[in-house]
Amino acid sequence: MRIDPQQVESEIDTLAAISEQPAPVVTRVLFSDADLQARAFIKGLCRDAGLAWREDAAGNLFARWAGAEPGLPPVATGSHIDAIPNAGRYDGVVGVLGGIEAIRALRRDGFSPRRSIELIVFTAEEPTRFGLGCLGSRLLSGILPPAKAAALRDRDGRTLEEWRGRAGFAASNLGTVPLPAGCYSAFVELHIEQGPVLERENFPIGIVESIAGPSSLKLEITGVGGHAGAILMPERHDALLAGAEIALAVERAALASGSPDSVATTGVFRIEPGAVNSVPCRALLEMDVRDTRQDTRDQMLATIREATAATCRRRGVEWTLELVNADPPATCHAVVISALREVCAALKLPAKPMISRAYHDSLFMAQLCPTAMIFIPCRGGVSHRPDEYSSPAQIAAGVTVLAHALARLAE
Ligand code: GLV
Ligand code: MN
Ligand code: MN
Repeated sequence: MRIDPQQVESEIDTLAAISEQPAPVVTRVLFSDADLQARAFIKGLCRDAGLAWREDAAGNLFARWAGAEPGLPPVATGSHIDAIPNAGRYDGVVGVLGGIEAIRALRRDGFSPRRSIELIVFTAEEPTRFGLGCLGSRLLSGILPPAKAAALRDRDGRTLEEWRGRAGFAASNLGTVPLPAGCYSAFVELHIEQGPVLERENFPIGIVESIAGPSSLKLEITGVGGHAGAILMPERHDALLAGAEIALAVERAALASGSPDSVATTGVFRIEPGAVNSVPCRALLEMDVRDTRQDTRDQMLATIREATAATCRRRGVEWTLELVNADPPATCHAVVISALREVCAALKLPAKPMISRAYHDSLFMAQLCPTAMIFIPCRGGVSHRPDEYSSPAQIAAGVTVLAHALARLAE
């Protein structure tokens, strides 16, 4: 089977240029102009590849190559094209453009699938706009109730309903998005590793066997603002300083968990009013807490809750702490894992069994059908940065494995 690395590379270049920030930075937040333009580009590629596409009310895009027995549940692949602020060009994109190329390669090869093969481009895998990751696949899996999704608000108070309207998806109701279990026979997602293991150990392919359980928290602290010269230190209820102590407690919670897999990050920290001569009256923090084990992750969440309460009481500030999500880890399916292993063995590509520490739409697709993931190396393990990089040859190896796996699973 011939994969065309130049074609994929040129499509990656085109997509990377559709960004809210100048190159080399890629930023495409859900339903921004860049996101909508990128979706239009992908739809064009799907059309050129002879795929019939449709979109659901959440903006998830489904592009289908009809099989000889179109009544059977299809095999699916896909990923996302939204990108966090200051991101690179490969996260998610490799799974979408690689999925399209896998289908084109199978067609060029004269393959005709028994089951249909479907490419899915998931809405907002990244949590940037609403603070909640995997919005599209979370809705598809039924884990996020549509009414709850509709009411999600961004930092300016705009709801998902408003954003859907702006993006042209409001004609149908979010209640139509969830899919029944068994709607696909299998799902395989190709993705860059976003960590250093494959490169360091010189493996071209990783086969993901489980995905760590992510969770996130939103904390709003209300202190007392005022004149930075006139309010003496013993009188202060500084929201930033309470937040700063809590951010350190978040770090400590991961360091002290006893698990090398624990990670905890305060990735958003905004203060108001944000003036040099004014005591901060409000602080907004968003924290991301993960472990491969759910009990360890949940223990960290409890520790962070206790530290938040203790710090805010001692500093005399008000707080609200919201648990945005606390998802269980996912186990990939033995049938899809063995299909990937057999494909890699036949292609003589050494494949390492792996845990995904990042989350992916596969976390939620695993609720609907047998799911596994293909990882490829990325330089230095760098991701969520503009210098994220995987070479055309590394991507081609991943696409080759994906194409063979889709063919096998569609037979
Ligand atoms: C996905 O981008 C993640 O944060 O794991
Ligand atoms: Mn990402
Ligand atoms: Mn991703």
